Amino acid sequence: MGVRIPPSANHSVTDMKTKGRVAVLLSGRGSNFEAIYKNSLKRDANYRVVVVVSNKKDAPGLQKASEFGLDFFHVAPKSYKTKTAYERAIIAILEEYSVDLLCLAGYMKIVGEELLQAYENRIMNIHPALLPSFPGLHAQKQAVDHGVKISGCTVHFVDAGVDTGPIILQRPVEVRDDDSEDTLGQRILKEEHEIFSEAVRLFFKKKLKIKNRKVIIIE
Ligand code: GAR
Repeated sequence: MGVRIPPSANHSVTDMKTKGRVAVLLSGRGSNFEAIYKNSLKRDANYRVVVVVSNKKDAPGLQKASEFGLDFFHVAPKSYKTKTAYERAIIAILEEYSVDLLCLAGYMKIVGEELLQAYENRIMNIHPALLPSFPGLHAQKQAVDHGVKISGCTVHFVDAGVDTGPIILQRPVEVRDDDSEDTLGQRILKEEHEIFSEAVRLFFKKKLKIKNRKVIIIE
């Protein structure tokens, strides 16, 4: 198991029983995590973040988790002989926290079979482009370099491919002639912060049904 950094409980007993239990997996800055967490504090939120896990020890997102008083773990891939063993260590944490939904918020590793099977249709990812355009790394740069007029962001369920899973929500963002990867990325990020929490909310309202590879949002 990863390094445990001491926890504190900041949620009521009612929350524990009635709200969806979210884990966040991240590798870096953690601004999507922060947005998901802050939305979970709203009075009508139907989920709460119960644990944060990172493959990077120095991820600023872990520092944020600490500031928020959340339980968090660093699980170092290098400490395990195989990806399966690494993912089993993560699953052990998720099980300890009775996690219902795993949110990949800037988690820069490909999810393997072990996690996919353990949390089938219960892993969501945020991607800074309108998939299936510009999957993989540096999606914002790909969009600028390609010269598209519209890009955006996508929340999708995770499958075995890279950014290929069933799409839950998307938001368009106009690409300006003078945009750089950074300026476009900043505007996309604002939208990411909204749609990720919204997708989580819909998940726990049981509004998301996957049919073949389509996600139907039930009214
Ligand atoms: C976000 O823009 C997210 O969409 C992207 O990494 C950034 C993480 O930022 N994810 C991917 O590119 C995954 N393919 P954050 O750590 O501030 O949330």
